[in-house]
Amino acid sequence: MLASCGSGKPLRYLDSAATTLKPSTVIEAEREYATSYTANIHRGHHRLSEIASEKYETAREVMGRFVGTAPRNIIFTKNATESINMVANGFGFTRSDVVALPIGEHHSNILPWMRLCELAWIEHEVCAPVDGRTLEEVIATNRPRMFVFSSGSNVTGAVNDIRTLCAIAARHGISTCVDASQTASHEPIEFDQLGCDFLAFSGHKMFGPPGTGVLAGRPEALERLTPYVIGGGSVASVTRDGFVLRDVPYRFEAGTPNISGVIGLAAAAQFLSAMPIEERRAHLVTLSNQMSERGVRIPGARSLMSDQPDRLPLVSFAFSTPHITSDTVATSLSENHNIMVRSGSMCAHPLVHRAGADGGLLRVSAHLYNSLDDIDETCNAIEEFTTRFS
Ligand code: ALA
Repeated sequence: MLASCGSGKPLRYLDSAATTLKPSTVIEAEREYATSYTANIHRGHHRLSEIASEKYETAREVMGRFVGTAPRNIIFTKNATESINMVANGFGFTRSDVVALPIGEHHSNILPWMRLCELAWIEHEVCAPVDGRTLEEVIATNRPRMFVFSSGSNVTGAVNDIRTLCAIAARHGISTCVDASQTASHEPIEFDQLGCDFLAFSGHKMFGPPGTGVLAGRPEALERLTPYVIGGGSVASVTRDGFVLRDVPYRFEAGTPNISGVIGLAAAAQFLSAMPIEERRAHLVTLSNQMSERGVRIPGARSLMSDQPDRLPLVSFAFSTPHITSDTVATSLSENHNIMVRSGSMCAHPLVHRAGADGGLLRVSAHLYNSLDDIDETCNAIEEFTTRFS
């Protein structure tokens, strides 16, 4: 657990949509690599290298089970942002190609496409998921080559119906890439049943180490993707005139990877999978219901939160008084109450602008380790601030 500061108040961590806390099994798995079998992988035949290589490939098997696909469909990356960039840069887009995406996307699922393609924005209400009919209209009007979207909003907690949306795209022969970062630690993934071509997520948002991520892909989709980073480890042979790439997934993992991180990531997946899913869901719903009930009652604050029953346990607040900024509220919560929440634009400027909250938002995001008391104390602290300074 995190250390408390000197205020005497218990530390309350409510910034899990930015990064989650890490269980001791993850820390221990990383420590074990560093202290017992440090070696590079896939490059040597000494004992330590063989142990490290075997643990790394076991991690791929664990992540394959976690994602619901074969290990060969799992590529280790440094985060979801890198995974998305791998698809954007390896897919063979030309400048006139169109990528369709919802207005609620965060920057890491906007910029890689914006730099290479035309964008076709899919409108939706700020706190609502993407609607299938709107997607159909955007497809009919813009003929995109790819449709990209997040499984859940990091601003409102709205969750998208991956299967339905991907089925619509597939009917029109459009490829799909899903950013599952916000839901990977909430719901089982079952990649092979989802109907998407690519799926990305970060390890640090699912109880794993920072600097780890996954790109999962359908075998045919990965075969067609050109690796945009190549080098040692990604090639089978090199001559003066050229090179032959290794098979998928190794052709996408050039250079020495984050070995201890990947091993820690597998420990995070095992940690999550060991908890019964019904218990996880029940706790997260309890937290999100409490946020919703308490959030709407805070004077001087407008709460942005999905009303879906299976929404994520997070809420963002916009403040109606001009001299109250989300940053000052976040600093006050941290310094006076030992409560950690995020403030700013949530790396989602188009949605925040659409919400009329260009001045920034305060986001409270909870996870399995939070209690109802954490939610109540956080809402009390926000209310105390807005009441005092309104
Ligand atoms: N997408 C991350 C967040 O919402 C960075 O905090």
